[in-house]
Amino acid sequence: MLVNGKHYRTVWMEKGIVKLINQPLLPHKFEIYECRNHTDTAKAISTMVVRGAGAIGSAGGFGMAQAVLESASDKYVEKARERLKNTRPTAQNLFYSIDRVYSAFLNEANKSNVGIRAFEEANTIADEDAAACRKIAEIGSSLIEHKARILTHCNAGWLAFTDWGSALSPVFYAKREGKDPFVWVDETRPRLQGARLTAWELKEENIRYAIIADNAAGYFISRGEVDLIIVGSDRIARNGDVANKIGTYEKAVLAYENGIPFYVSAPTATIDWTCNEGRDIPIEERSEEEVLYVRGRDNSGKISAVQIAPNGSTACNPAFDVTPAKYITGIITERGLLKPEELGRILPDKI
Ligand code: MRU
Repeated sequence: MLVNGKHYRTVWMEKGIVKLINQPLLPHKFEIYECRNHTDTAKAISTMVVRGAGAIGSAGGFGMAQAVLESASDKYVEKARERLKNTRPTAQNLFYSIDRVYSAFLNEANKSNVGIRAFEEANTIADEDAAACRKIAEIGSSLIEHKARILTHCNAGWLAFTDWGSALSPVFYAKREGKDPFVWVDETRPRLQGARLTAWELKEENIRYAIIADNAAGYFISRGEVDLIIVGSDRIARNGDVANKIGTYEKAVLAYENGIPFYVSAPTATIDWTCNEGRDIPIEERSEEEVLYVRGRDNSGKISAVQIAPNGSTACNPAFDVTPAKYITGIITERGLLKPEELGRILPDKI
């Protein structure tokens, strides 16, 4: 997508270096972060310099390619694979990419070629992620009417993928089709991906939006001011249950109760065919500090954290929740719009 008129992807690899848009600095500063080896890349994923299911998937794939280029010994690559897999537990795209590059490494007969082969595979995965999101944009846009008011949670825009995004790409596409959409942006405590990242992307695309406190969604929905909800996903179970950013579940129940459609948008790489239902999806627990402090820019332009709770407070910080399939109107994938119970129609042959 364009930043100040220049096309960027969220993640890419150049001359052995993995390059990432440095997301904790946004929206205040646009900077590229460089990972010189697979350990740097693993750290960038776990500290959320790069975040979002598709983006960490691509970063994980490139991290594997770096590892193979560093040393093609089986032991080294296997250890790197473990390290990269241990960065974040919930997003399926991460495991999908790491395993695909690992298989490419194992299956390359010409051992002097494994580095190139691993890089090619990682690049293909990143290209496929961008292409799937572009297709989702087109399919999802058909659900958006002229001047539709869409509510979204967290950031499933292009920063969460290699390019385009999943929940926001239909909105970008609708805007390009002249439909003039409006977006209610949940701020998305505690890391504020909605207020910081979704709002920034929409502003760059000249799309109308308003940021709302997470607990304001029910108010606007009950007043008839939301036409549809579109969210992304970090992992989809085989029965159509969906894990997404904490707070998604309650938005789905609100949609159901108020009779508005609730769509989940995700490339098929987000589906975990080995996971039968939502309760099997591992949910990441993050640090208390993310809840007890808020980061932002002060009047002097400095980015810092401020404490918002009494000294000694404890906090709980699950990063995701699971929305049962019964609340989901449809899942928008690059293979089409499916009801959660229809996922089996696109089950890969190998499974
Ligand atoms: O913790 P994050 O920021 O990596 O969480 C991922 C998300 O941004 C959301 O859950 C998103 O809606 C799905 S990821 C495309």
